[in-house]
Amino acid sequence: MTDRTIAIAEGRPVKPLPKEGYSAAPGKATDTLGRRIHDLRISVTDRCNFRCIYCMPKEFFGPDYEFLPRRELLSFEEITRLARVFAAHGVRKIRLTGGEPLLRKDLEQLIEMLAAIPGIDITLTTNASVLAKKARTLRDAGLRRITVSLDSLDDQVFRAMNDVDFPVAKVLEGIDAAAAAGLAPVKINMVVKRGLNDDSILPMARHFKGSGHIVRFIEFMDVGATNGWRMDDVVPSAEVIRRIDAELPLEPLDPNYRGEVAERWRYRDGSGEVGVISSVTQAFCSECTRVRLSTDGLLYTCLFADKGYDMRALLRGGASDEAIGDAIGRIWSVRADRYSEIRTAETAALRKIEMSYIGG
Ligand SMILES: C[S@@+](CC[C@H](N)C(=O)[O-])C[C@H]1O[C@@H](n2cnc3c(N)ncnc32)[C@H](O)[C@@H]1O
Ligand code: SF4
Repeated sequence: MTDRTIAIAEGRPVKPLPKEGYSAAPGKATDTLGRRIHDLRISVTDRCNFRCIYCMPKEFFGPDYEFLPRRELLSFEEITRLARVFAAHGVRKIRLTGGEPLLRKDLEQLIEMLAAIPGIDITLTTNASVLAKKARTLRDAGLRRITVSLDSLDDQVFRAMNDVDFPVAKVLEGIDAAAAAGLAPVKINMVVKRGLNDDSILPMARHFKGSGHIVRFIEFMDVGATNGWRMDDVVPSAEVIRRIDAELPLEPLDPNYRGEVAERWRYRDGSGEVGVISSVTQAFCSECTRVRLSTDGLLYTCLFADKGYDMRALLRGGASDEAIGDAIGRIWSVRADRYSEIRTAETAALRKIEMSYIGG
């Protein structure tokens, strides 16, 4: 049984709303470690057409896997209403994710609805399988930035990692279409797993150097409970930077804003930048300003959580915006998560929510 199947069998993994905890004035809540809420990640579907071996391994996400039925999903109206309340409570950035967000029907409509919320920057992470077709309409709907996942330029390696035989060329087409539609610079996420695609680090850096796009190398993480994570498979970001720097000299750059997850590096010859996301070897919990909304409306205050707060019950139970805002304030003010700082081999083996469900 997979994590999700267990969750269905046991009921949704819901955590009771905190009764204690203050409800600060909107936008003022700090958590127990002094962190402010800034980013909201929304998973719009738990389905995906890829079976990336580090995210939805086929042996767990096979033909019998039970995805959420439609009625369980938050509607676009429900998502937008929550997003408005979050915006009033300090959220400035919304990332749509999943599963594969571009598989959610009429996603452009949701983007249009979210884009109407003042002061919110909307972005999206995608495997780009249908991006070439959709880039223009996404941009027209109000999307301004995009992140594309691509784990290798070597077709054989990439096909083995997505495990559905999807070719590199189509992802590159999607990246070009996004740039042509005005979504440049495109951020390109590459999850690095030792012995599998670490030989692809340099070719990836060479290919996108000078293109204006920004490759971000991500340490393979112990999200969920199905990807067989082992510390030995992690290529530390410091090693990634060393390997690139040996051929293409780099220097560090300042973060764009406090809490930015990617550490930025620039090519010394001025031909662009790369990033590294080191959630395993250099935990950034102390700066974490993110909260995640699952496809069925559970709010998770950490990527490595095993339970979430039921926002859908509030929405469907007739709670006012004020009551929802009050709940958000309380949830945030009791937040104490710092999983990556306390990770051990034992914690890595704990049952955690799958990334495709909680939203990457
Ligand atoms: C879960 S995916 C969802 C969005 C979309 N399907 C995609 O792949 O871009 C979001 C991001 O999480 C990354 N990711 C998934 N599993 C991971 C893991 N075990 N460690 C590190 N990153 C992971 C993916 O590579 C992707 O860039
Ligand atoms: S990383 Fe993205 S594309 Fe790959 S299986 Fe997970 S959700 Fe799908």
